Amino acid sequence: MRFSRGKQDGYYHYRHYSLPLLFTLALAIPATAAEDASTILSRFQQYLQINTAQPHPNYYEAAQFITSQANSLSLPSQTLEFVEGKPLILIKWQGKDPTLPSILLNSHTDVVPSEHHKWTHPPFSAHLDSTTGNIFARGSQDMKCVGLQYLEAIRKLKDSGFRPLRTVYLSFVPDEEIGGADGVAKFVDSDAFADMNVGIVLDEGLASPADHYRAFYGERSPWWLVVKAVGAPGHGSKLYDNTAMENLLKSIESIRRFRAAQFDLVKAGLKAQGEVISVNMVFLKAGTPSPSGFVMNMQPSEAQAGFDIRVPPNADPASLERRIADEWAPASRNMTFEFKHKVSVNDKFGRPAVTAVDSSNIWWALLEEAIIKANARLGKPEIFPASTDSRHFRERGLPAIGFSPMANTPILLHDHNEFLNKDEYLKGIDVYESIIKTYASYIQHPRDDASREEL
Ligand SMILES: *[C@@H]1O[C@H](CO)[C@@H](O)[C@H](O)[C@H]1NC(C)=O
Repeated sequence: MRFSRGKQDGYYHYRHYSLPLLFTLALAIPATAAEDASTILSRFQQYLQINTAQPHPNYYEAAQFITSQANSLSLPSQTLEFVEGKPLILIKWQGKDPTLPSILLNSHTDVVPSEHHKWTHPPFSAHLDSTTGNIFARGSQDMKCVGLQYLEAIRKLKDSGFRPLRTVYLSFVPDEEIGGADGVAKFVDSDAFADMNVGIVLDEGLASPADHYRAFYGERSPWWLVVKAVGAPGHGSKLYDNTAMENLLKSIESIRRFRAAQFDLVKAGLKAQGEVISVNMVFLKAGTPSPSGFVMNMQPSEAQAGFDIRVPPNADPASLERRIADEWAPASRNMTFEFKHKVSVNDKFGRPAVTAVDSSNIWWALLEEAIIKANARLGKPEIFPASTDSRHFRERGLPAIGFSPMANTPILLHDHNEFLNKDEYLKGIDVYESIIKTYASYIQHPRDDASREEL
């Protein structure tokens, strides 16, 4: 890791203005309360216009923009570079009692690629449709909105004279869209992170087509499975048992039955997507290649298939492992299997990697309270169907809640024409204002052992 800038404590301190200068500034710049929405929206658009699409995100331009925002808020920021070319920007709003566990507001700066020609407005134009108020851009939902909403909420709180009791940190991290190995994974292992004494993490959630917000307390773990079959090769005209293809097809049939049963639970409304084990076949590989395609009169001696399996944290991993070994790739059928990637459903203490969402977790109760205070509604807490950086925090036993304040919004992350309506964006700022105020004012020091138990 290296600091690209630094003073004694690693932060880049913004100098204090003298009183007369402050006064002049106050006269020259209208207070945020009076700041019109277009100024707030234009900052969001500026951030959206920075092309941080994988696989070649322009991280330095994003870092520069975020640092300039921190400067404009007189908040110290530092750029951590655990991996060359992948800056992580950490902003600190010092609390009155720095001994209390801090609040971490996390967001990632990278976005997924887009097929430009399939978009109505170019994905980095941040076009604001004047009729609907929709802002079109890659990252408008996932998740540049959240990163800037945190900053705008702090701008409002500062202008209102609010001072946090607990220290509030904002991290703008790289590489979430490619797994976070060079981003959050390195961050949570760093001394800088240990020094922050984080008590609660807020990270991304999903848009909600309904008029309530969604919150996530855990996520499914990816298990990327490859099953391989072997069998005696033979003429394409001959019927005989135990060919590689037949052996593999028996597995595929068994896996499809399991998939259908899980999917039925979702279709019947008994379980949410995040609560079932999903299995999707992602590749099939077999056949004897020929110059024009495949040899058509020969049964191959090997065949394999790949599956993307997602396991909810409350599932029993041992029973799924048994099912794979006994039914999906049984040695009795000469089958083998391997995992290309397998994330544990447990945290490093061996407990399911979920954040408590009942009265045992004060941060959950405070979140609900703050959202109601902001005149918004929160739905039933959910398991995130895919993966986010929250995983890395929960893995270390830290409570992390996935939350992106986007109601009345179609889920368009990773899709063409991703957009967020300007009114939803502005409403989200008010919601974060309420959340940050509530969190940063919370006095009690959660007992360490008690909060461990809650996880
Ligand atoms: C497994 O392989 C052995 C050795 O090639 C063969 O004799 C047997 O029939 C195969 N069994 C199945 C179910 O494919």
